[in-house]
Order: sequence, then C-alpha cells, then structure tokens
Amino acid sequence: MDFAQLSGGRSRRALALALCVWSLISLSCAARLTDSSRQKLDVQKHLNRLNKPAVKSIKSPDGDIIDCVHISQQPAFDHPYLKDHKIQMRPNYHPEGLFNENKVAEKTKERSNPQAQLWHANGRCAEGTIPVRRTRKDDILRASSVKAYGRKKQRSIPKSADPDLANESGHQHAIVYVNGDKYYGAKATINVWEPKIQQPNEFSLSQLWILGGSFGEDLNSIEAGWQVSPDLYGDNNTRLFTYWTSDAYQATGCYNLLCSGFIQINSEIAMGASISPVSGLRGSQYDISILVWKDPKEGHWWMQFGNDYVLGYWPSFLFSYLADSASMIEWGGEVVNSEPEGQHTSTQMGSGRFPEEGFGRASYFRNIQVVDSSNNLKAPKGLGTFTEQSNCYDVQTGSNGDWGHYFYYGGPGKNPNCP
Ligand SMILES: *[C@@H]1O[C@H](CO)[C@@H](O)[C@H](O)[C@H]1NC(C)=O
Ligand SMILES: *[C@@H]1O[C@H](CO)[C@@H](O)[C@H](O)[C@H]1NC(C)=O
Repeated sequence: MDFAQLSGGRSRRALALALCVWSLISLSCAARLTDSSRQKLDVQKHLNRLNKPAVKSIKSPDGDIIDCVHISQQPAFDHPYLKDHKIQMRPNYHPEGLFNENKVAEKTKERSNPQAQLWHANGRCAEGTIPVRRTRKDDILRASSVKAYGRKKQRSIPKSADPDLANESGHQHAIVYVNGDKYYGAKATINVWEPKIQQPNEFSLSQLWILGGSFGEDLNSIEAGWQVSPDLYGDNNTRLFTYWTSDAYQATGCYNLLCSGFIQINSEIAMGASISPVSGLRGSQYDISILVWKDPKEGHWWMQFGNDYVLGYWPSFLFSYLADSASMIEWGGEVVNSEPEGQHTSTQMGSGRFPEEGFGRASYFRNIQVVDSSNNLKAPKGLGTFTEQSNCYDVQTGSNGDWGHYFYYGGPGKNPNCP
C-alpha cells in the first residue's frame, strides 16, 4: 500500500474504519486472553493448594499418582481453626462390637475377601506420611469451575419425608435407614462392584450417611463408601471415598481430602484411590468394611477401613448438629439420572442387578450396625427402606446369624419396567 493512496477523504475513512475494526478485534482478543490466563492461574493456584510437597510419589497402575505427604503438611492444616491443632494419632475409644469380626471373617472367607488398593502394587508410604491422590489439571478442568471441583453439585440426600424433591434432583436411591434416636456412629460391610455409568456427568455410589440437622439449609453429613464417578476421577474405576458437609452441600465440605477438614493419620489407605479387585457376576465376591464413630472424649468423628486401618478423623468443630450426635443413619446406593424428563439412564446401581437375584449377583450391605450413646455397636432398630422408583433400583432387607442385619440393593436403571 502506498501513502499517496491514503490522502483522499475516502481512504482516510477506510483507514479509520480498518483501525477501528482492528482495535475491536484486539480488545476482545486481549479480554479473552486475560480470561483464559486468569483461569489458568486459578487452576494452578488450586493445584498448589491441594498438592502438598511429597516425600515420595508412587505411580499406580491405573494412572494415578499417589504422593506420600508428611502428616503435618496435609490439606487439613490449611484450615484456620486447625492452625494450632494437636493431631491425635489414635482414638481414645473404639466402639465395642456385637459381631466378632474375626469369627465372621473366617466363616465368610470362602465367599468374600479382604480388599486392597491398586497403587499398593507399586509401593507404600512410610510411617509419618499419608498417601494423597494427586490432583491433575484435567481433574479440575472437568469440573464446572475451580470452586466446584471436589464438591457435590446439589443436595443429594434422599429426603424420605419428601420423596418428590429427591425425584426432582435426578438423584435416585435404594437405601435403608434409621431415625428417631441419637446415633454416635455406624458400620457396614459393603460388597464392591464396578457399575456401568451411561454418561460422564452421572455417578453410582454405595455408602453410609451419618446425618444431623434438617434437610433444608443446615444438614450435617458424613459419608463414606465406594463410588464410580467419571467427572470426579476421569475414569470408570471403583474408588474409596468420603464426603462431609455442615450446610447441606452449600459452602462447606468436599470429597476425600479435596478441602481442609478431615485429618488423616493412616499411611496405607488413600482416599479416592481405586479398589481392586472388584466382584464379578457369580465369581469371587469382595467387600469393604467401614466404621465411623464419635470419640466420646474429644467428640471427633473417626473412620476405620477394614479391621486394621484407622484412617483419621473429622474434628468436631467442623459441624453443628454432628458436634453432638447424629439423628439419622442411612446405608445404600445412589445414582444420578441426568435426564429425569427423558428416558431413564442405564447407569447401574450396585452390581446392576435387582436384590432378588441374591448373593453373587446382586450387591449387598451386611452387618449393618449403629453406635449408641454408650459407645456400643448395636443392631439398628426399626429399619426403614426407601427408593424413588423400585422398578429402576430396589432394596430388600433381611437378617441372619452370619450377616446380622443385611440388605441387597441396586438395579440396572433403564429396563422394560423403567423406560
Ligand atoms: C467409561 O465407561 C463408558 C461406558 O460405560 C465409556 O463410554 C467411557 O469411555 C469410559 N470412560 C473411560 C475414561 O474409560
Ligand atoms: C418419581 O418419579 C417417577 C417418574 O416420574 C414416578 O413414577 C415415581 O412415582 C416418583 N417417585 C416418588 C417416590 O415420588
């Protein structure tokens, strides 16, 4: 282009217009750049917050990286209330049991086997450190926002008093529950499967809930079990998980160690790590035992995995109602049906089979117990059951000498009776 050409009025207007268009484009480009670099910065900041310096890192066969983090550097101690907290290395009291686990374990050895975590194949963390599943950039980018990562999207408690609401959220349950008393803990041995998930934004879990407060704004909840959640973990593996909230899933709480709260003391079990092996149809059955109880002395809520692993505790001050006791305990399965208005999801609950199919085909919870005010494990009294659509996912209870109170639960979701 020649400058002489620009001397005329028309050319000047053309130049001005061109400049204007150019600056508009570059302005919006700049704005976009700032947005994306701000997001990058937020993601990086969050990763730095979550991933503490590792003494050693172990690559798990499923692609996870497990960081062995010094116990005093775990995420819990980012909490302002925990700055001067003296970590407790063991509970003051353990609940006294109704079932002699060793006896039950012996009797059911043929049928159910103890569980391990996949990453153990490639190493262990030393005493004085805790294994933490490393969060990757992609984990956070799958969430709707940095803030939403590791948290529940919506209230997902089966509100048995008002099932319509539970239906509305797209969350479906097949559970048993007790309420109407004060509870200080709960226990269950949970059959482990790998249910199929139809869409990545759905999940399938099997867990126990320890609940206090009301289902509105102030629900306190401690949850533990296994889950398959492609959005949270980026795969379809069955993983050990915990969750807590003290305000009905609004501002507080998270899965695993993805926020400060839970204090882990155990060096062998990683929250959010894959469980292996899982049960097969008519094949070997595997189960995990989970016990959560309130230490009568300090008031903290402790969690034990299997017979041997005391994982750690949720400090009492995290909660309002649960600082005293729980008013409801639930056990069972939950899935998300992401299209409640359309066809039913084919996401499976439990093994994907209905309860009437029984052992080796349907998933079970056995030896479900509650902890009473005297710190004793007891059979739950007055068990209720709840499911939104029993044609999609169902539950059936029973009791016998070996299994105490037990139930089979789950289903395939979409089927001719659940269109
Ligand atoms: C998870 O399973 C679904 C089907 O159930 C499949 O489409 C998807 O690719 C799997 N995702 C991964 C990460 O393996
Ligand atoms: C939930 O919704 C389904 C389908 O709309 C309906 O058939 C069922 O009765 C509802 N369940 C409850 C407990 O309201």
